[in-house]
Amino acid sequence: MDNYDINDIDDDFSYSLRPKYLSEFIGQDKAKEQLRIHIDAVKSRRKQKNKGGIKTKDNVLEHVLLVGPPGLGKTTLAKIIANEFGTNFIQMIGTVMERLDVASKLTNIEEGDILFIDEIHRMKAPIQESLYPVLEDFVLDLPIGQGPGSDVVQVPIDPFTLVGATTREGLLTGPFRSRLGINIHLDYYTPEDLQQAIRINSAKLNIKTDEDAEYAIALRARGTMRIANKLLQNVRDYAQVRSGGILTLEVVEEALEFFGIDEKGLTKQDYAYFRALIENFSGRAGLKALAVALSEDERTISDVYEPYYIKLGFLSPTPSGRVATEAAYEYFGYQIHTHPTLFDI
Ligand SMILES: Nc1ncnc2c1ncn2[C@@H]1O[C@H](COP(=O)(O)OP(=O)(O)OP(=O)(O)O)[C@@H](O)[C@H]1O
Ligand SMILES: [Mg+2]
Repeated sequence: MDNYDINDIDDDFSYSLRPKYLSEFIGQDKAKEQLRIHIDAVKSRRKQKNKGGIKTKDNVLEHVLLVGPPGLGKTTLAKIIANEFGTNFIQMIGTVMERLDVASKLTNIEEGDILFIDEIHRMKAPIQESLYPVLEDFVLDLPIGQGPGSDVVQVPIDPFTLVGATTREGLLTGPFRSRLGINIHLDYYTPEDLQQAIRINSAKLNIKTDEDAEYAIALRARGTMRIANKLLQNVRDYAQVRSGGILTLEVVEEALEFFGIDEKGLTKQDYAYFRALIENFSGRAGLKALAVALSEDERTISDVYEPYYIKLGFLSPTPSGRVATEAAYEYFGYQIHTHPTLFDI
């Protein structure tokens, strides 16, 4: 199983399992409670104040920032917000946003719509800046003409809610972050939350399974809903071919071993990471060096892989680089030797 990539997803599969309303969204109680309060507050303000149908900022949800590692439900929550209000969901990706496209999306927006910007920390600076007056006062400065005769017209935009998603809050500029009034942090799911999702999704997909099998999958899902869904999908295929389709604990364990996923959900790629860190760099390395050693993209390592290693207690980010912890040495079967501390350098 050389090419098994745990983050590789089948979006059609995921799409069919995506919760549509807040009540169907599993776990993340704090985030749900926060959103519920803000959504209900806006709904009740609308009822009270807006009998005359006046468009005002008060009638729409404040702008939202969703922060958390990949696959925890940021896009899902953004869609849920639109569903809860029954408004349009317009999606853009920070990396590929161009001025004209943004202007055309904004001028067509309707009151209360959700404009979702994924990877919002990767938006170009001029586009970010052009959004400041839009976010604050719902006016867009549109340049007309070019050169010395050019002018700017201010176009009013219907009050809407921008929902930004990021895996890296630290990369968002201060002025931009301060314009997003609601901050929601998503955390890794507990095995119990993941088990609940696996149970619900098994039922949706007509998969016969039991509690032990569900829990075994949940434990290997790296605290991540997307991975739980992916493992369920893969294990189902395995069971279909090898054991008549029924998911028992035995079949699940056999399947996961076949796919090369260990009891913490770690795969060959993760083993390669720690082998490089411990064997090539004596347990301490910078991101760039690791990326070169693994032929991997720096961003994938820091945003997708490392947050889970930190959560497992296998990695500790220090100012002088990534440090493999004693728990990592032990887990991957290396002799524990004390690596130099900051005081030794
Ligand atoms: N709380 C949840 N309850 C049930 N299913 C969920 C939940 N969160 C996420 N999922 C499922 O996991 C899948 C991945 O979630 P989603 O695409 O929203 O993650 P994301 O945070 O946007 O990831 P990325 O950072 O990679 O864009 C969804 O398709 C959905 O089916
Ligand atoms: Mg997403």
